[in-house]
Amino acid sequence: MDRIAVRDLRKTFQLKPGQSVTVDGRTSDRVSVLGGVDLTIRRGEFVTLVGPSGSGKSVLLDVIAGLTEASSGAAEIDGDAVARPHPGTAYVFQQYALFPWRTALENVEYALEVRGVGRKERRDKARAFLDLFGLRAFEDRYPSQLSGGMQQRVAIARALSNDPEVLLMDEPFAALDAQTRDILQSELLRIWEQIKTTVVFVTHSIDEAIFLADRIVVMTARPARVKEIIEIDLPRPREPGVRNGDDFTRYRARVWEALRDEVRKAQGDWSLASTYAH
Ligand SMILES: Nc1ncnc2c1ncn2[C@@H]1O[C@H](COP(=O)(O)OP(=O)(O)OP(=O)(O)O)[C@@H](O)[C@H]1O
Ligand SMILES: [Mg+2]
Repeated sequence: MDRIAVRDLRKTFQLKPGQSVTVDGRTSDRVSVLGGVDLTIRRGEFVTLVGPSGSGKSVLLDVIAGLTEASSGAAEIDGDAVARPHPGTAYVFQQYALFPWRTALENVEYALEVRGVGRKERRDKARAFLDLFGLRAFEDRYPSQLSGGMQQRVAIARALSNDPEVLLMDEPFAALDAQTRDILQSELLRIWEQIKTTVVFVTHSIDEAIFLADRIVVMTARPARVKEIIEIDLPRPREPGVRNGDDFTRYRARVWEALRDEVRKAQGDWSLASTYAH
């Protein structure tokens, strides 16, 4: 069965008094962000989502997470419409959403604490997840004492500690330097190979989208729909060197081809093209 099904999902926001948008010459006080998104994602699949800035990727993730209500249509997990945050879903944001007053270990323990897992068990489990990311020696550090890459590792460890069925990641590596980013991509894949949870990962980096994915979903400009789905047939486990291969280069051209017009539509010019630089 599909783990996630998104069916003709639409989302319109009512703007604040005095605000308006003009689309095709018509002015409105409502903005249509998702314009009928259809998408199914298999159990254990790693899907990456690319699309122009402001196209509705984060809103789509929020609806799947149960944080935002759809205007019509539905997001389903295991066949059930998502109406509120689902206990089997974990979310990792771009900004390091760690509790600054908790150590790395206490941050990872948090989700287990909420679920009522006993002290010893949650400590052991949290340590095991920190271990996976090579962070055991840093368990007593507070977020402010960790680098950005380490903070994001802790955030991912925290998300995974609850054995999520669905892991939603919204540009989790966007704030990291290029080398740290490449390393974290490999670390994430290594761990995903072990646990095979279903991942939906939003990114502006075409290379990141290709390197991680089983399939890349290219979204249109707002109101977002699925423009194209590209199967990534590169061997797993994925070695970093795959980025230098001919197949990778071909995928890069293909994804950019699908994205280019949408980025142009979203911006009305080419100014955003640099956001998608490889
Ligand atoms: N609560 C809200 N009220 C009104 N408009 C909203 C609200 N939340 C999001 N939007 C609008 O929805 C559109 C899509 O936003 P979203 O954050 O999903 O884009 P995105 O594809 O994630 O962009 P980026 O790549 O820049 O993160 C934007 O135009 C945004 O202004
Ligand atoms: Mg976003």
